[in-house]
Amino acid sequence: MSTNSIDSLLHESRRFPPSAEFAANAVAKPELYDAAKADRTNFWAEQARELLHWHKPFTQTLDWSNPPFAKWFADGELNVAYNCLDRHVLAGNGERVAIHWEGEPGDSRSVTYAELTAEVKRAANALAALGIGQGDRVAIYLPVIPEAIVAMLAVARLGAVHSVVFGGFSAESLRSRIDDANAKLVITADGGWRKGKVFPLKPAVDAALSGAATSVTNVLVVKRGENDVEWTEGRDLWWHDALAAADAEHEAQGFEAENPLYILYTSGTTGKPKGILHTSGGYLAQVAFTHKNVFDLHPATDVYWCTADVGWVTGHSYVVYGPLANGATQVMYEGTPDTPHPGRWWELIEKYKVSIFYTAPTAIRSFMKLGREIPDKFDLSSLRVLGSVGEPINPEAWIWYRDAIGGGTAPIVDTWWQTETGAIMISALPGVTSLKPGSAQTPLPGIKIDILGEDGTRVDPPQGGLLVVSEPWPAMLRGIWGDPERFKETYWSRFSTEGDYKYFAGDGAHVDQDGDIVLLGRVDDVMNVSGHRLSTQEIESALVSHPIVAEAAVVGAADETTGQAVVAFVILRSDQEKAQTAEEASTILRAHVAEQIGAIARPRQVFVVSELPKTRSGKIMRRLLQDVAEGREIGDTTTLADSSVMQIISDKLK
Ligand code: WTA
Repeated sequence: MSTNSIDSLLHESRRFPPSAEFAANAVAKPELYDAAKADRTNFWAEQARELLHWHKPFTQTLDWSNPPFAKWFADGELNVAYNCLDRHVLAGNGERVAIHWEGEPGDSRSVTYAELTAEVKRAANALAALGIGQGDRVAIYLPVIPEAIVAMLAVARLGAVHSVVFGGFSAESLRSRIDDANAKLVITADGGWRKGKVFPLKPAVDAALSGAATSVTNVLVVKRGENDVEWTEGRDLWWHDALAAADAEHEAQGFEAENPLYILYTSGTTGKPKGILHTSGGYLAQVAFTHKNVFDLHPATDVYWCTADVGWVTGHSYVVYGPLANGATQVMYEGTPDTPHPGRWWELIEKYKVSIFYTAPTAIRSFMKLGREIPDKFDLSSLRVLGSVGEPINPEAWIWYRDAIGGGTAPIVDTWWQTETGAIMISALPGVTSLKPGSAQTPLPGIKIDILGEDGTRVDPPQGGLLVVSEPWPAMLRGIWGDPERFKETYWSRFSTEGDYKYFAGDGAHVDQDGDIVLLGRVDDVMNVSGHRLSTQEIESALVSHPIVAEAAVVGAADETTGQAVVAFVILRSDQEKAQTAEEASTILRAHVAEQIGAIARPRQVFVVSELPKTRSGKIMRRLLQDVAEGREIGDTTTLADSSVMQIISDKLK
């Protein structure tokens, strides 16, 4: 972010205090902060007791005797799926709609808590019949359909561990995730609807499982797209057949609070995605607490909609676990926002009278570009709380969101968190906080955040620094699957000292004159494209895996709509320079990255260059390439081994 825009962010003077009426009916009260301050761990214990059903109550709250490996509520037992399903039915809310699902072509289904519970019981029995039990890993590769939720909860009900892989990832990405977790079972679909067409998923699973022997013994296939699929006898089974053959009754057993719930792969600074591990009790307590308080949820009357795909952490915490633990009614939509028309989302808000809406700044900015006329055609008056997640939301988009979507009155909560944190960490509380555009504002009650300088001392406003979480929190990741050393190294080595462990988030941040936190984006080699995390190194590895490429460097360049965009610089192998034009090479390589990783990683541009800027020790200076990619004056080149390189690159690109 340029110094100029940081400056204006730090001096943002607009304030939006809650109305007296909103504050009077708000779920969150200012006393939450006092309670958490008085006794932080006890505050979380109270939340966990109040919000969850425990098969066996816990007596220990936090065990931090072996940092950075935390245990929360360790001697308690619970069943995550029971908390999301059965207990609501037993409390008399079985007829409440859990999911209003809308398919892209316009087909729809509403599923009550009683129906969802029955479906998950059958699915749990079906999985058990395939040999899935506590601790086994199940890969889930599905579109945004109710079966994705059923599959996740069925796995959780058995005390097994799911690894959801976003449906847009390639066969190769799927395979590496299956291998890393040693998954026994894959749950997929024939296809799903996207942009007016069925995109097939089963062929990617078939490709992923071909070749070297795998840990996978069965593939369950949901029928959604009605497209033809290849079939491997003995391995593949239709989901509907397996469920029909399964018993209807299934009693949920309690598992230890630290029983693993899921692994979710996310990009880090190195080429290989990390399997972030989350466990049960602490995770569920914090997602339920945050979902209820940050979104001001009144479960009997609200209709909530989070637009995230279940393949990302936002889908895990705020489509599946948070809303269902709280007994909320939610909307789930399969397709893209512009199919079959650019007002599709607003049409759904009108149709289902959505009152709480949670989406990403990149979506808001692309709607802003299309103009207000589109949302203006729909009745959005049911909306009363808006949320934002995934990247910083610029004040201009914030104001547009409030005015064009929120009727000029709906509070906006800008929620900062990560795959690793499991749940929201920094956010305003509607009804309590006076809102400020462009700032995530305040750590939630029970969360301790600090901004540190490079030397590890706390910085004073208006200095910027690096964001750390200074105390363990219930939904924190418990590790990187199979790699405890990488876990310690990545998150805990930078600022921890003996006896004082601090989690390094990888984000830069500022504290403004009011003490509010302003997020500035990643400080490492992780890019944020449309709110999706991508690693520069992972894309570089994909590029150099193509035979025409000798060397590659990737940067995230500022982009008006997607926040950042992937821009690649490649040196072709000498025998290739004449074989293709730069334009041909660029087309081939953009497609190659999409095929290797997934369409979300496809570079916006691939520039063919003859040199890359390197220091004397051979490190690529991405900062300089970023200057070129963003059309800026090139920064300091004095540490380059050959300072003329940047001139050559920028001349060529002109
Ligand atoms: C960024 C998504 C600014 C941040 C839940 C973080 C944000 C990364 C915000 C995590 C926000 C997320 N303001 N930046 N409100 N929310 N980020 O793991 O850089 O996909 O480190 O989790 O997104 O991305 P992830």
